[in-house]
Amino acid sequence: MSSTTAQRFADVPPESEFVADVWSGLSGRTKSLPSKYFYDARGSDLFEQICDTPEYYLTRTELALMREHVAEMAKALGPEIRLVEFGNGSGLKTRLLLQALERPVAYIPVEISASALAGSCAQLQRDFSELEILPLQADFTAPLTLPRAHRTPRRTVLYLAGSTLGNFPEPEAVVLLQQMRRAAGADGAVLLGLDLKKDPVLINAAYNDAAGITSAFTLNLLVRMNRELDADFQIDQFFHRARYQAIVGRIETDIVSRRAQRVRIAGRDFDFAADEPVRVEVSCKYDRSDMQRMARLAGLQLQQVWTDNQEQFAVVLMPATGAG
Ligand code: AVJ
Repeated sequence: MSSTTAQRFADVPPESEFVADVWSGLSGRTKSLPSKYFYDARGSDLFEQICDTPEYYLTRTELALMREHVAEMAKALGPEIRLVEFGNGSGLKTRLLLQALERPVAYIPVEISASALAGSCAQLQRDFSELEILPLQADFTAPLTLPRAHRTPRRTVLYLAGSTLGNFPEPEAVVLLQQMRRAAGADGAVLLGLDLKKDPVLINAAYNDAAGITSAFTLNLLVRMNRELDADFQIDQFFHRARYQAIVGRIETDIVSRRAQRVRIAGRDFDFAADEPVRVEVSCKYDRSDMQRMARLAGLQLQQVWTDNQEQFAVVLMPATGAG
């Protein structure tokens, strides 16, 4: 390669989606970056560590909730279903569900990372030797064509665990639910793990753990841009800030610039003012009326809500509202 990095990037269209998203996210009046870029190898590892912090109640509460109610959930979903999972969480919740389901026809994990997909499918296939596993490498926010199973399913169920839906502001979340509903078909259903509105102290603690793992997770986005986009962020000149906004019912996570500074990213310069935030994540929290409203807007019904006894987290079953 003969040209310099600056020449290669300065006047040509962005070469990758990552560059395009970063450039456009940092070009607006208010800066933002898509949270999907958190999950490189290091980011995925840090997320696992977040799940083990004492403050991050979400994962362990959801798991406990599944353990307690999975038989009832499986019964509500019915026999011989095709289970489609968006993203490919810890696998533990999925295992519980697959164990409880009556003769599932197929399991289809939809995951953007090929390596994550291959690894978890191989492991799962060892433990569920009878199950037809049909991995689909795709971005689940785009409309999907699902692979056909050998046996004909009675029903298709789309599963989104971990309150991942919360990372989408409501209009986008409704679009995603509409897509899920379409993919599930007229007698299909959507199964969601959703974090609930609660004492802001608990929510704030979950996104500001004392060991600083969430901070490292957030700032890893800068590390990743340095490596993959030839950027020159000085990591210690930025800090992680996550605050629960009770009025809108969501955690808002920003990377904040400690001082006025200029950063070069893939050959282009970006200026950051002192205290300027870059919005990198929202994590919406829900109550029943939020669930009702989103279900209605997406053509779904709110059939059942399972919660833990402290009402911290919910697993929610939303069947499609008739044909169409
Ligand atoms: C698993 C993506 C839903 O928003 O709670 C954890 C990600 N971010 N700590 C969440 C996350 C900071 C997590 N999701």
